[in-house]
Amino acid sequence: MVSLGLEDKVIVVTGGNRGIGRAIVDLLVELGAKVAYLDLSVESGNDKALGLVADVTDLNSMEAIAKEIEEKLGTVYGVVANAGITKDNFFTKLTPADWDAVINVNLKGVANTFKPFMEAMYAQNAGSLVAISSISGDRGNAGQANYAATKAGVIGIVKSLARECARYNVRANAVAPGFINTEMTQVIPDKVRDKITAEIPFRRFGEPADIAWAVAYLLSPVASAYVSGEVVRVNGAHHT
Ligand SMILES: NC(=O)c1ccc[n+]([C@@H]2O[C@H](COP(=O)([O-])OP(=O)(O)OC[C@H]3O[C@@H](n4cnc5c(N)ncnc54)[C@H](O)[C@@H]3O)[C@@H](O)[C@H]2O)c1
Repeated sequence: MVSLGLEDKVIVVTGGNRGIGRAIVDLLVELGAKVAYLDLSVESGNDKALGLVADVTDLNSMEAIAKEIEEKLGTVYGVVANAGITKDNFFTKLTPADWDAVINVNLKGVANTFKPFMEAMYAQNAGSLVAISSISGDRGNAGQANYAATKAGVIGIVKSLARECARYNVRANAVAPGFINTEMTQVIPDKVRDKITAEIPFRRFGEPADIAWAVAYLLSPVASAYVSGEVVRVNGAHHT
């Protein structure tokens, strides 16, 4: 019997209360990991995981929460920076507030999520960092210049960390989902959804579990021990 080697590993997932983050939490729990999920609300999350209210834009509170997780679950092995928001509009209509909000959650939020756990990972000479990027960061998307900039930015973060952290046996990678059925994409008008679906060779949006499996692979010290600085695209061949 082989396994991904995630049993009893302490893994933190941001934005884990719903959508893709929830699917990641659910799969990691099934794989035997000790999971903590952080979100603005933790009311509907997996009750086999430790849910903590946190805002990834606030580094001080993320540092306090990192201490709490270590006390309750032990030294963290894996961190999944999944929390993200959109404030879409055409470029000429995007406001400074739209830029700030998206940069604070999707870009600085990823740094605030990774940083508090990394010294302990270095000390234990093991760790895996995963950021959720997007097809928009990979190929751009009309109406999403602010979002795409942050999602391209997290690829820069993990590629830099891959080089910086290898000496400590800590890896850093990203998953770039295509269009996935969650509350984030429920706001897409039907006409636009049909147009997008027609462009996807699989002719459908993906499911949150499709992303969770890619994340589990990148967390696994067995399956991806020599994989770092990579972007795994999960998009039904929408963009290859
Ligand atoms: N759904 C898609 O099609 C899609 C495609 C590509 C990338 N993504 C990315 O996947 C990730 C998850 O998206 P989703 O579709 O599940 O979205 P979602 O809106 O369903 O869930 C996002 C979660 O993040 C939480 N969150 C938002 N701001 C936060 C903050 N400041 N601190 C802590 N938690 C916060 C929300 O409360 C929510 O639970 C995001 O980074 C998103 O950009 C989604």
